[in-house]
Amino acid sequence: VHILILGAAGMLGRKLAGRLQRDRTLGQDEISRLTLQDVVATAPCDDAGFAIESIACDLSAPDAPATLIAKRPQIIFHLAAVPSGDAEADFEKGYRVNVDATRQLFDAIRAAGDGYKPRIVFTSSIAVYGAPFHETIDDEFILTPLISYGAQKGICELLLADYSRRGFLDGIGIRLPMICVRPGRPNGAASAFFSSIIREPLNGEEALLPVPDDVRQWQATPRSAIDLMVHAASIDLQPLGWRRSLNMPGLSVSVGEQMEALKSIAGASVAARVRRAVNPSVTQLVRGWAPAFRTDRANALGFKTTETSVADIIRIHIEDELRGNFVR
Ligand SMILES: NC(=O)c1ccc[n+]([C@@H]2O[C@H](COP(=O)([O-])OP(=O)(O)OC[C@H]3O[C@@H](n4cnc5c(N)ncnc54)[C@H](O)[C@@H]3O)[C@@H](O)[C@H]2O)c1
Repeated sequence: VHILILGAAGMLGRKLAGRLQRDRTLGQDEISRLTLQDVVATAPCDDAGFAIESIACDLSAPDAPATLIAKRPQIIFHLAAVPSGDAEADFEKGYRVNVDATRQLFDAIRAAGDGYKPRIVFTSSIAVYGAPFHETIDDEFILTPLISYGAQKGICELLLADYSRRGFLDGIGIRLPMICVRPGRPNGAASAFFSSIIREPLNGEEALLPVPDDVRQWQATPRSAIDLMVHAASIDLQPLGWRRSLNMPGLSVSVGEQMEALKSIAGASVAARVRRAVNPSVTQLVRGWAPAFRTDRANALGFKTTETSVADIIRIHIEDELRGNFVR
Protein backbone atom coordinates (compact mmCIF):
# COMPACT_ATOMS: atom_id res chain seq x y z
CA VAL A 1 0.00 0.00 0.00
CA HIS A 2 1.20 3.54 -0.85
CA ILE A 3 0.74 5.99 2.06
CA LEU A 4 0.91 9.78 1.96
CA ILE A 5 1.33 11.82 5.15
CA LEU A 6 0.47 15.53 4.84
CA GLY A 7 2.08 17.54 7.66
CA ALA A 8 4.75 14.85 8.11
CA ALA A 9 7.26 17.19 9.79
CA GLY A 10 4.90 18.05 12.64
CA MET A 11 4.90 16.51 16.09
CA LEU A 12 2.42 13.74 15.24
CA GLY A 13 3.48 13.45 11.58
CA ARG A 14 7.06 12.57 12.54
CA LYS A 15 5.89 9.99 15.05
CA LEU A 16 3.46 8.46 12.55
CA ALA A 17 6.14 8.29 9.84
CA GLY A 18 8.52 6.65 12.32
CA ARG A 19 5.91 4.09 13.36
CA LEU A 20 5.07 3.15 9.74
CA GLN A 21 8.76 2.81 8.88
CA ARG A 22 9.26 0.50 11.87
CA ASP A 23 6.10 -1.59 11.34
CA ARG A 24 6.42 -1.82 7.54
CA THR A 25 2.74 -2.77 7.52
CA LEU A 26 -0.55 -0.99 8.03
CA GLY A 27 -3.34 -3.28 9.21
CA GLN A 28 -3.16 -6.33 6.92
CA ASP A 29 -1.23 -4.50 4.17
CA GLU A 30 2.47 -4.31 3.53
CA ILE A 31 3.68 -0.77 2.91
CA SER A 32 5.17 -0.40 -0.57
CA ARG A 33 5.75 3.35 -0.61
CA LEU A 34 5.63 6.27 1.82
CA THR A 35 5.39 9.90 0.73
CA LEU A 36 6.09 12.54 3.38
CA GLN A 37 4.89 16.08 2.71
CA ASP A 38 5.33 19.27 4.71
CA VAL A 39 6.45 22.85 4.12
CA VAL A 40 9.92 21.64 5.11
CA ALA A 41 11.62 18.44 3.98
CA THR A 42 11.57 15.52 6.40
CA ALA A 43 14.39 13.04 6.90
CA PRO A 44 13.22 9.46 6.44
CA CYS A 45 15.18 6.54 7.91
CA ASP A 46 17.44 4.66 5.47
CA ASP A 47 16.40 1.06 5.88
CA ALA A 48 12.62 0.99 5.96
CA GLY A 49 12.59 -1.63 3.20
CA PHE A 50 10.32 0.39 0.90
CA ALA A 51 10.53 3.60 -1.13
CA ILE A 52 10.24 6.83 0.83
CA GLU A 53 9.93 10.23 -0.79
CA SER A 54 9.98 13.59 0.97
CA ILE A 55 8.19 16.49 -0.74
CA ALA A 56 8.51 20.04 0.59
CA CYS A 57 5.60 22.20 -0.56
CA ASP A 58 2.77 24.37 0.67
CA LEU A 59 -0.42 22.29 0.54
CA SER A 60 -2.43 25.44 -0.15
CA ALA A 61 -0.45 26.24 -3.34
CA PRO A 62 -2.75 25.76 -6.35
CA ASP A 63 -1.06 22.69 -7.90
CA ALA A 64 0.22 21.03 -4.74
CA PRO A 65 -2.62 18.56 -4.06
CA ALA A 66 -2.74 17.29 -7.68
CA THR A 67 1.03 16.74 -7.64
CA LEU A 68 0.88 14.96 -4.29
CA ILE A 69 -1.77 12.48 -5.41
CA ALA A 70 -0.24 11.91 -8.88
CA LYS A 71 1.10 8.50 -7.77
CA ARG A 72 -2.31 7.59 -6.32
CA PRO A 73 -1.57 6.96 -2.64
CA GLN A 74 -4.29 4.65 -1.31
CA ILE A 75 -4.12 6.04 2.22
CA ILE A 76 -3.72 9.74 3.01
CA PHE A 77 -3.17 10.95 6.55
CA HIS A 78 -4.14 14.62 6.44
CA LEU A 79 -2.39 16.21 9.43
CA ALA A 80 -1.22 19.46 7.82
CA ALA A 81 -2.69 22.37 9.76
CA VAL A 82 -2.12 25.78 11.22
CA PRO A 83 -2.47 25.32 15.01
CA SER A 84 -5.16 27.01 17.09
CA GLY A 85 -3.17 30.01 18.37
CA ASP A 86 -1.82 30.87 14.91
CA ALA A 87 -5.23 30.39 13.25
CA GLU A 88 -6.71 32.83 15.74
CA ALA A 89 -3.89 35.35 15.24
CA ASP A 90 -3.88 35.13 11.42
CA PHE A 91 -7.45 34.68 10.16
CA GLU A 92 -6.49 34.60 6.48
CA LYS A 93 -3.74 32.01 6.90
CA GLY A 94 -5.94 29.79 9.08
CA TYR A 95 -8.69 29.60 6.47
CA ARG A 96 -6.23 29.23 3.58
CA VAL A 97 -4.40 26.27 5.08
CA ASN A 98 -7.03 24.66 7.29
CA VAL A 99 -9.99 24.98 4.91
CA ASP A 100 -9.00 25.97 1.35
CA ALA A 101 -6.11 23.50 1.10
CA THR A 102 -8.34 20.67 2.32
CA ARG A 103 -11.04 21.50 -0.23
CA GLN A 104 -8.36 21.65 -2.95
CA LEU A 105 -7.05 18.27 -1.87
CA PHE A 106 -10.50 16.68 -1.95
CA ASP A 107 -11.21 18.25 -5.35
CA ALA A 108 -7.92 17.00 -6.78
CA ILE A 109 -8.94 13.50 -5.67
CA ARG A 110 -12.38 13.93 -7.24
CA ALA A 111 -10.85 15.19 -10.47
CA ALA A 112 -8.44 12.24 -10.67
CA GLY A 113 -11.35 9.95 -11.58
CA ASP A 114 -10.54 6.43 -12.82
CA GLY A 115 -12.10 4.93 -9.69
CA TYR A 116 -9.43 6.53 -7.50
CA LYS A 117 -10.94 6.58 -3.99
CA PRO A 118 -8.32 6.80 -1.25
CA ARG A 119 -8.89 6.44 2.49
CA ILE A 120 -8.46 9.87 4.10
CA VAL A 121 -7.70 10.03 7.81
CA PHE A 122 -8.37 13.60 8.83
CA THR A 123 -7.15 14.74 12.25
CA SER A 124 -9.98 16.86 13.59
CA SER A 125 -10.19 18.26 17.09
CA ILE A 126 -12.48 18.60 20.08
CA ALA A 127 -12.23 22.35 19.34
CA VAL A 128 -15.23 21.79 17.02
CA TYR A 129 -17.28 22.03 20.22
CA GLY A 130 -17.92 25.19 22.21
CA ALA A 131 -19.56 26.14 25.51
CA PRO A 132 -22.15 26.00 27.00
CA PHE A 133 -21.67 22.25 27.49
CA HIS A 134 -23.36 19.31 29.13
CA GLU A 135 -21.25 17.49 31.68
CA THR A 136 -20.04 15.08 29.02
CA ILE A 137 -20.15 15.63 25.29
CA ASP A 138 -21.14 12.82 22.94
CA ASP A 139 -21.05 12.58 19.15
CA GLU A 140 -24.59 14.00 18.97
CA PHE A 141 -23.57 17.33 20.51
CA ILE A 142 -23.98 20.25 18.14
CA LEU A 143 -20.79 21.72 16.63
CA THR A 144 -20.52 25.31 17.86
CA PRO A 145 -16.81 26.12 17.80
CA LEU A 146 -15.65 29.22 19.63
CA ILE A 147 -12.30 29.58 17.87
CA SER A 148 -11.50 29.85 14.15
CA TYR A 149 -9.39 26.66 14.26
CA GLY A 150 -12.43 24.74 15.58
CA ALA A 151 -14.66 26.25 12.90
CA GLN A 152 -12.10 25.29 10.23
CA LYS A 153 -11.94 21.70 11.49
CA GLY A 154 -15.76 21.58 11.54
CA ILE A 155 -15.98 22.80 7.92
CA CYS A 156 -13.50 20.11 6.86
CA GLU A 157 -15.57 17.47 8.69
CA LEU A 158 -18.58 18.47 6.57
CA LEU A 159 -16.52 18.37 3.37
CA LEU A 160 -15.12 14.97 4.34
CA ALA A 161 -18.62 13.60 4.93
CA ASP A 162 -20.04 14.98 1.69
CA TYR A 163 -17.12 13.91 -0.52
CA SER A 164 -17.36 10.45 1.07
CA ARG A 165 -21.13 10.27 0.54
CA ARG A 166 -20.64 11.24 -3.11
CA GLY A 167 -18.14 8.39 -3.48
CA PHE A 168 -15.07 10.54 -4.26
CA LEU A 169 -13.09 9.36 -1.25
CA ASP A 170 -13.39 7.18 1.84
CA GLY A 171 -12.94 9.59 4.72
CA ILE A 172 -12.83 9.44 8.49
CA GLY A 173 -12.35 12.41 10.82
CA ILE A 174 -10.93 11.61 14.23
CA ARG A 175 -11.46 14.30 16.86
CA LEU A 176 -8.25 13.93 18.80
CA PRO A 177 -8.09 14.93 22.47
CA MET A 178 -5.43 17.42 23.50
CA ILE A 179 -2.17 15.56 23.05
CA CYS A 180 -0.24 15.53 26.30
CA VAL A 181 2.66 15.47 27.00
CA ARG A 182 3.64 17.31 23.81
CA PRO A 183 7.42 16.91 23.31
CA GLY A 184 9.70 19.80 22.31
CA ARG A 185 9.16 23.45 23.07
CA PRO A 186 5.76 25.05 23.86
CA ASN A 187 3.99 25.72 20.53
CA GLY A 188 2.19 28.95 21.41
CA ALA A 189 -1.22 27.30 21.89
CA ALA A 190 -3.24 28.56 24.87
CA SER A 191 -3.33 24.95 26.07
CA ALA A 192 0.47 24.56 25.97
CA PHE A 193 0.81 24.79 29.76
CA PHE A 194 -0.94 21.39 30.22
CA SER A 195 2.20 19.85 28.71
CA SER A 196 4.70 22.41 30.02
CA ILE A 197 3.87 21.71 33.68
CA ILE A 198 5.00 18.09 33.19
CA ARG A 199 7.70 18.41 30.50
CA GLU A 200 9.68 21.38 31.84
CA PRO A 201 10.06 20.18 35.47
CA LEU A 202 11.24 16.76 34.21
CA ASN A 203 13.87 18.62 32.15
CA GLY A 204 15.01 20.57 35.20
CA GLU A 205 13.26 23.78 34.12
CA GLU A 206 10.57 25.96 35.68
CA ALA A 207 7.03 26.08 34.31
CA LEU A 208 4.13 28.42 34.88
CA LEU A 209 0.67 27.13 35.82
CA PRO A 210 -1.84 29.85 34.89
CA VAL A 211 -5.11 28.15 35.96
CA PRO A 212 -6.58 26.77 39.23
CA ASP A 213 -6.18 23.07 40.09
CA ASP A 214 -9.76 22.08 39.23
CA VAL A 215 -9.43 22.97 35.51
CA ARG A 216 -9.89 19.80 33.41
CA GLN A 217 -8.92 18.77 29.91
CA TRP A 218 -9.56 15.74 27.67
CA GLN A 219 -6.11 14.27 27.04
CA ALA A 220 -4.32 11.47 25.24
CA THR A 221 -0.62 10.70 24.80
CA PRO A 222 1.23 11.06 21.48
CA ARG A 223 1.68 7.26 21.56
CA SER A 224 -2.10 6.76 21.70
CA ALA A 225 -2.72 9.41 19.02
CA ILE A 226 -0.62 7.37 16.59
CA ASP A 227 -2.52 4.18 17.51
CA LEU A 228 -5.82 5.99 16.85
CA MET A 229 -4.64 7.21 13.42
CA VAL A 230 -3.33 3.80 12.38
CA HIS A 231 -6.59 2.18 13.51
CA ALA A 232 -8.63 4.77 11.55
CA ALA A 233 -6.66 3.89 8.42
CA SER A 234 -7.16 0.14 8.83
CA ILE A 235 -10.85 -0.41 9.72
CA ASP A 236 -13.98 -0.87 7.66
CA LEU A 237 -15.87 2.47 7.72
CA GLN A 238 -19.26 1.02 6.72
CA PRO A 239 -20.58 1.05 10.33
CA LEU A 240 -20.02 4.82 10.50
CA GLY A 241 -22.69 5.56 7.91
CA TRP A 242 -22.31 9.11 6.63
CA ARG A 243 -21.38 10.53 10.02
CA ARG A 244 -17.73 10.29 9.23
CA SER A 245 -16.22 12.20 12.17
CA LEU A 246 -16.19 11.01 15.73
CA ASN A 247 -14.87 11.75 19.21
CA MET A 248 -11.76 9.86 20.17
CA PRO A 249 -11.18 8.23 23.56
CA GLY A 250 -9.10 10.06 26.14
CA LEU A 251 -8.89 10.82 29.84
CA SER A 252 -10.47 13.75 31.65
CA VAL A 253 -7.58 15.10 33.70
CA SER A 254 -7.42 18.09 36.06
CA VAL A 255 -4.22 20.08 36.51
CA GLY A 256 -4.39 19.23 40.23
CA GLU A 257 -4.31 15.51 39.29
CA GLN A 258 -1.41 16.18 36.92
CA MET A 259 0.54 17.89 39.72
CA GLU A 260 -0.19 15.09 42.23
CA ALA A 261 0.93 12.44 39.73
CA LEU A 262 4.10 14.39 38.88
CA LYS A 263 4.94 14.60 42.56
CA SER A 264 4.39 10.91 43.18
CA ILE A 265 6.39 9.81 40.09
CA ALA A 266 9.25 12.35 40.09
CA GLY A 267 9.27 13.69 43.65
CA ALA A 268 8.36 16.92 45.44
CA SER A 269 11.48 18.81 44.29
CA VAL A 270 10.60 18.23 40.62
CA ALA A 271 6.95 19.22 41.16
CA ALA A 272 8.17 22.37 42.99
CA ARG A 273 9.55 23.64 39.64
CA VAL A 274 5.94 24.54 38.72
CA ARG A 275 5.04 28.08 39.73
CA ARG A 276 1.35 28.82 40.24
CA ALA A 277 0.21 32.23 39.01
CA VAL A 278 -3.46 32.23 38.03
CA ASN A 279 -4.15 34.27 34.92
CA PRO A 280 -7.89 35.11 34.81
CA SER A 281 -8.13 35.46 31.03
CA VAL A 282 -6.38 32.12 30.35
CA THR A 283 -8.58 30.51 33.02
CA GLN A 284 -11.72 31.86 31.42
CA LEU A 285 -10.62 30.66 27.96
CA VAL A 286 -9.74 27.16 29.16
CA ARG A 287 -12.95 26.82 31.16
CA GLY A 288 -14.76 27.29 27.83
CA TRP A 289 -13.38 23.95 26.59
CA ALA A 290 -15.22 20.68 27.12
CA PRO A 291 -13.66 18.74 30.02
CA ALA A 292 -14.99 15.24 29.24
CA PHE A 293 -16.43 13.24 26.35
CA ARG A 294 -18.45 10.12 25.62
CA THR A 295 -16.85 8.07 22.89
CA ASP A 296 -19.32 5.20 22.43
CA ARG A 297 -19.07 5.16 18.63
CA ALA A 298 -15.28 5.10 18.69
CA ASN A 299 -15.24 2.43 21.41
CA ALA A 300 -17.60 0.24 19.36
CA LEU A 301 -15.23 0.55 16.39
CA GLY A 302 -12.27 -0.57 18.49
CA PHE A 303 -10.51 2.80 19.00
CA LYS A 304 -8.42 2.59 22.19
CA THR A 305 -5.83 4.60 24.06
CA THR A 306 -2.98 3.00 26.02
CA GLU A 307 -3.05 5.12 29.18
CA THR A 308 -5.59 4.49 31.93
CA SER A 309 -4.45 7.16 34.42
CA VAL A 310 -2.76 10.53 34.55
CA ALA A 311 0.29 8.74 35.98
CA ASP A 312 0.44 6.64 32.78
CA ILE A 313 0.47 9.84 30.72
CA ILE A 314 3.58 11.02 32.58
CA ARG A 315 5.28 7.60 32.54
CA ILE A 316 4.74 7.28 28.77
CA HIS A 317 6.38 10.69 28.27
CA ILE A 318 9.37 9.61 30.39
CA GLU A 319 9.66 6.33 28.44
CA ASP A 320 9.12 7.68 24.93
CA GLU A 321 10.85 11.07 25.10
CA LEU A 322 13.35 10.89 27.97
CA ARG A 323 14.43 7.24 27.59
CA GLY A 324 13.43 6.62 31.17
CA ASN A 325 15.47 9.50 32.67
CA PHE A 326 14.58 12.91 34.09
CA VAL A 327 16.35 15.67 36.01
CA ARG A 328 15.84 14.99 39.73
N1 LIG B 1 -1.45 18.04 19.06
C1 LIG B 1 -2.70 18.12 19.48
O1 LIG B 1 -2.97 18.31 20.69
C2 LIG B 1 -3.83 17.95 18.50
C3 LIG B 1 -5.15 17.81 19.00
C4 LIG B 1 -6.20 17.70 18.09
C5 LIG B 1 -5.94 17.69 16.74
N2 LIG B 1 -4.66 17.83 16.28
C6 LIG B 1 -4.43 17.85 14.83
O2 LIG B 1 -3.49 16.83 14.51
C7 LIG B 1 -2.68 17.25 13.41
C8 LIG B 1 -1.21 17.14 13.78
O3 LIG B 1 -0.98 17.85 14.99
P1 LIG B 1 0.49 18.21 15.48
O4 LIG B 1 0.39 18.43 16.94
O5 LIG B 1 1.45 17.24 14.92
O6 LIG B 1 0.66 19.63 14.77
P2 LIG B 1 2.01 20.34 14.28
O7 LIG B 1 1.71 21.79 14.26
O8 LIG B 1 3.17 19.85 15.08
O9 LIG B 1 2.15 19.79 12.78
C9 LIG B 1 1.39 20.28 11.70
C10 LIG B 1 2.28 20.28 10.49
O10 LIG B 1 1.53 20.84 9.39
C11 LIG B 1 2.44 21.55 8.60
N3 LIG B 1 1.79 22.57 7.78
C12 LIG B 1 1.24 23.74 8.19
N4 LIG B 1 0.83 24.44 7.13
C13 LIG B 1 1.13 23.70 6.03
C14 LIG B 1 0.96 23.91 4.66
N5 LIG B 1 0.41 25.04 4.16
N6 LIG B 1 1.39 22.97 3.80
C15 LIG B 1 1.95 21.83 4.29
N7 LIG B 1 2.14 21.57 5.58
C16 LIG B 1 1.72 22.50 6.45
C17 LIG B 1 3.37 22.23 9.61
O11 LIG B 1 4.60 22.61 8.99
C18 LIG B 1 3.53 21.15 10.66
O12 LIG B 1 4.71 20.39 10.46
C19 LIG B 1 -3.12 18.67 13.07
O13 LIG B 1 -4.06 18.59 12.02
C20 LIG B 1 -3.79 19.14 14.34
O14 LIG B 1 -4.76 20.13 14.07
C21 LIG B 1 -3.61 17.95 17.13
